[in-house]
Amino acid sequence: MSRGRLITLEGGDGAGKTTQAGWIRDLIRAQGVLLVETREPGGTPLAETIREWVLSPTAEEPDGLAELLLVFAARRQHWVRRIEPALESGIWVLCDRFIDSTYAYQGGGRGLPLAWIATLEHWVLGPGGRPDLTLYFDTPVDQALERVRQRGHLNRMEREGPDWHEQVRSAYRSRWEADPERFIRIEGGRPPDEVRAILEAALTHRFATWQSQASIRPEEPSG
Ligand code: TMP
Repeated sequence: MSRGRLITLEGGDGAGKTTQAGWIRDLIRAQGVLLVETREPGGTPLAETIREWVLSPTAEEPDGLAELLLVFAARRQHWVRRIEPALESGIWVLCDRFIDSTYAYQGGGRGLPLAWIATLEHWVLGPGGRPDLTLYFDTPVDQALERVRQRGHLNRMEREGPDWHEQVRSAYRSRWEADPERFIRIEGGRPPDEVRAILEAALTHRFATWQSQASIRPEEPSG
């Protein structure tokens, strides 16, 4: 049985990814694969508790490194309990945010050294943790923050100012530029139906490529 694929959704707060998640899930399932839908921080009961600690505005602000370690503690639990077992058994995983969020928010936003994040990534995920595909919603910050304000109930990251969110966006763009094959970048400021049409075409093309690669893969030597 072939390993499942890990597909992640990424982008700043208010970038528009959650609006599109439903049909993306349906399109993946239409490939005839089993799919787990999940999110970060979170995805298991313990990791969801850590999510609350990281995102709820509280009297005691976590120190930046403490925040980074909490995010990775949640990720480790999610990875070993849920994501990796699913992938191992051939199930695909659609994860709303993953490792690129940490580079963007704790790296870009909080300004923590990217080398610390890379070290933790290596410990926590090992070599198999690179997503197969990342759908990156790249949305102008003023437009994205307006959407966030309209939603209300701002989390700790959403309460940060426009300059902070520009740093998050710029860190995301660096990730995309460094590994363009892994990403499909979508201009999230476009109207939702346009975003959907563009993304649907790109995803359909990517799935067809994967399928043709799988069908020409040489047989494993037996015995
Ligand atoms: P969401 O509901 O939009 O996914 O919100 C999750 C928040 O968590 C979002 O503001 C980004 C933040 N976050 C980090 O700061 N670091 C991370 O590693 C992850 C996964 C999320």
